[in-house]
Amino acid sequence: MPEVAAGLTTTEAAFIENAQRDGRMYIHQPYELYSEENHESWRKLFSRMQAQWRQYANPHFLKGIDSLCFDASQVPRLEDVNRFLQPLTGFQAKAVSGYVPAFDFFDCLSRREFPTTITIRRSDRLDYLPEPDIFHDIAGHVPMHTDPKFADVLVRFGNCAHTAKRLVADIKDEKVRQQRLTSMIKALARFFWFTVEFGLMNTRDGVRAYGSGLLSSYGELAYALTEPRVQRYPIQMEWVVNQGFDYHHYQPLFFIVDSFEHLFQLVDELERWLASGKLENVAPGAPDINDADHNSFLRAETPAQA
Ligand SMILES: [Fe+2]
Repeated sequence: MPEVAAGLTTTEAAFIENAQRDGRMYIHQPYELYSEENHESWRKLFSRMQAQWRQYANPHFLKGIDSLCFDASQVPRLEDVNRFLQPLTGFQAKAVSGYVPAFDFFDCLSRREFPTTITIRRSDRLDYLPEPDIFHDIAGHVPMHTDPKFADVLVRFGNCAHTAKRLVADIKDEKVRQQRLTSMIKALARFFWFTVEFGLMNTRDGVRAYGSGLLSSYGELAYALTEPRVQRYPIQMEWVVNQGFDYHHYQPLFFIVDSFEHLFQLVDELERWLASGKLENVAPGAPDINDADHNSFLRAETPAQA
């Protein structure tokens, strides 16, 4: 067993490398491994977002942050987060070692589990994020999971993935199956990106953010809501499912929903579009769908546990 170095810094954590090498996707949070620098990152990230959140976050998020009672001084323990979260909506943060293939990710959501990264970015490069970290997942996503309607939206995304899986299961021609599945995963991923990750919503006080990519980004949150060159439009399904995106830069385009009831209706409609074959041929372009994503949809269902 290789020695495990201290620290759970993004891309530098031996504990994570070992888990990935051993093929362990679901892991525990080895809290004792967090270094003082890791806690320092959390402190800085959490404190500098306070004013941004008050100004630009939607009210459901602000209520969620309050109800989760985060400790501003150290990286949260997932078990503490879940103690506050689970009674509200049944959702739980579940530690993972890195990228979760598309079906597995959505399947977790359908079970009210949220795959959660446990590493944290370096304290001297707070704006450089080579991959999602615990600040993005816990401070950006999880406060939204305290809202019952938003939690239902995530579950509906999970249902959509199950629908897509059923639709391709009987296709014998491998090429046809591959093409349709790629298209359906793209549509789902795009819809998720432009809502759960980068969504805006109308509120009584004007347009506010509910997307977690924005709520965990010091620079992009204000940019999305104040930069005159940014495009902000009422959400349109036809557009979103055909719209590519580039995650290396600040987003030039955002879509606005009226409420989480509105968003829920849209995800419902997304499922109907999937079932009717309407999403079998969406516009090419980002995101790329890799083999792991494909295979996750083609694997046999794990039998229900007795
Ligand atoms: Fe995210």
